[in-house]
Amino acid sequence: MEKTFLMVKPDGVQRGLIGDVVNRFEKKGFKLVAAKLMVISEDLAKEHYGEHAERPFFGELVDFITSGPVFAMIWEGEDVVKTARHMMGATKPSEAALGTIRGDLGLIVGKNIIHGSDSLESAEREMKLFFGDDTVISYDKPVEQWIY
Ligand code: PPS
Repeated sequence: MEKTFLMVKPDGVQRGLIGDVVNRFEKKGFKLVAAKLMVISEDLAKEHYGEHAERPFFGELVDFITSGPVFAMIWEGEDVVKTARHMMGATKPSEAALGTIRGDLGLIVGKNIIHGSDSLESAEREMKLFFGDDTVISYDKPVEQWIY
């Protein structure tokens, strides 16, 4: 089953938005298969955002993402990479549709609450970078046996 890497960024953690973000993906029907609160090292930040190294805001991005704890997650489900990006909304909160995470909760691009892998390839790379090989939990959700 398809998986993606999502992360509530330091602004989202500080604003107490972990629960709201998790709730949206749970209610949508996706399955949480790994999660941890962690502080990102400068090395990890530079590797994670390596493709943006030449962009003018790179230093700001690395400083911000290492400035406090993030909540890193792996979510599973059909088309989860693409659907999660839709649920996050556009990178700039001012351009993000209402109903999306950034559209409902964000104000400025440098503090846009959530990161999500933008392709299957990035998802593979980012899951490995943040979780290694062995921390994804496999489990059934047999809710149909007791929710009617
Ligand atoms: S995207 O979503 O990757 O297509 O967006 P992109 O515009 O390429 O931005 C790459 C990441 O940099 C963040 N970003 C910024 N951070 C700080 N300041 C400014 N001005 C800025 N512009 C973009 C953007 O949120 C992307 O990070 P993630 O974590 O992927 O959202």
